Amino acid sequence: MNKNVTVITGAFWGDEGKGRSAFFESSDAKLCIRATGGANAGHTIYTNGKKFTLHLVPGGIINPQTICLIEAGVVVDLDLLIEEINELENNGIQVDGRLFISKAAHIVLPLHKKADQLHEELKNNKVGTTGRGIGPTYADKASRIGLRMEDLTLSSSELITKVKNLVEYHNKIFKSYCYHTYDYREILCDLLKKSHKIKKFITNTRSITNITIKESSKIVIEGAQAYRLDLEHGDYPYVTSSYCNTSGTLSGAGIGPIYVKDVIGITKSYCTRVGEGPFPTEIESEEISDTIRNLGHEYGATTGRPRRIGWLDLTIINEAKTLMGYTALAVNHLDTLGKIIKEIGFAKVKISSKETVILTEAWNTNDCKNFSDLPKPAQEFIELIETTTDLPVRYIGIGPDNKETIIK
Ligand code: IMP
Ligand code: MG
Repeated sequence: MNKNVTVITGAFWGDEGKGRSAFFESSDAKLCIRATGGANAGHTIYTNGKKFTLHLVPGGIINPQTICLIEAGVVVDLDLLIEEINELENNGIQVDGRLFISKAAHIVLPLHKKADQLHEELKNNKVGTTGRGIGPTYADKASRIGLRMEDLTLSSSELITKVKNLVEYHNKIFKSYCYHTYDYREILCDLLKKSHKIKKFITNTRSITNITIKESSKIVIEGAQAYRLDLEHGDYPYVTSSYCNTSGTLSGAGIGPIYVKDVIGITKSYCTRVGEGPFPTEIESEEISDTIRNLGHEYGATTGRPRRIGWLDLTIINEAKTLMGYTALAVNHLDTLGKIIKEIGFAKVKISSKETVILTEAWNTNDCKNFSDLPKPAQEFIELIETTTDLPVRYIGIGPDNKETIIK
């Protein structure tokens, strides 16, 4: 049996550059699949002088030959999806006939965003969610009351019953907290309007995946969020509400582990986190954090929030190896780390609970095309990651554009 599936997963708390890797990896892929999460994700891709920020559509859409799926594990905000499709089309990217959405993917409604806000207000331990309604939509999915993409293809009488049930259920909770309630007829009208634009993309995606697996063509699965945000194995309760570890990503994509060739863990050359929760290597000095934040443009692609900044923590990669099953790593922002060392005078890398390596020699990655072109201290940094994690570094990002990737 040919193993042709590559899984892209985040090794820390998200924002490691998964979108870029999904795009890069799918340049020779037949299929690129978004598997979990929703518009809480913000995947940025720079190519040919253009910047794309995708929240739902997989990064493979930028490669003309790649078919893209939004699979069952994803929760879909229809407004944002329509916006994203329009933006792609306005930039000359063909979406029609190339994007398909699983019938089983759940729908995020505006009331879910309201519920997200309400939950954060009511809880003592705020998670600092993106406010995109992700948790409440997954909760409805688990409560077996959620709306799925296939419901948009039902007769209007069948859809009415489902929408009414869901809205009434939420209204009871909203009412008890004196929150604004919803009129199911308005929600229904809105859904019907949007379904005109979306319906043609909804299909039985399983048959597309089955064919692609059968013919042994390459499939790239674009994970969302990351290991420490995983609902089951992450920093609970400071996590997202989906299983964004490798197995959860495969489950969301509808593909079994037997077909996996590669699992690429994506990391930056330092760490960031948005939202609340533990962050062992977080930098206390605001001055240093600000410098790194500005050098690395570390502001949330979804919320615009300034990201918390910390040093690279390789103990987290080592701790996650069994769960995540990495076969290789991609290290982004190598250029930025060189600038950080130049500006601040040093950078740290945590390699064990007791040991931290301090880097003091800056580097410049301009015009480097191959690993051997990189300045010696930059090469040594990559080798330090490899020896500490016992994993090969396959891709190195030395700038935001897709072209600025070194294959090792
Ligand atoms: P939620 O996913 O919006 O419920 O947010 C839960 C936690 O996950 C918060 O700390 C968010 O900041 C974080 N989070 C969710 N999605 C992402 C992401 O794509 N990148 C980084 N952090 C994320
Ligand atoms: Mg992001």
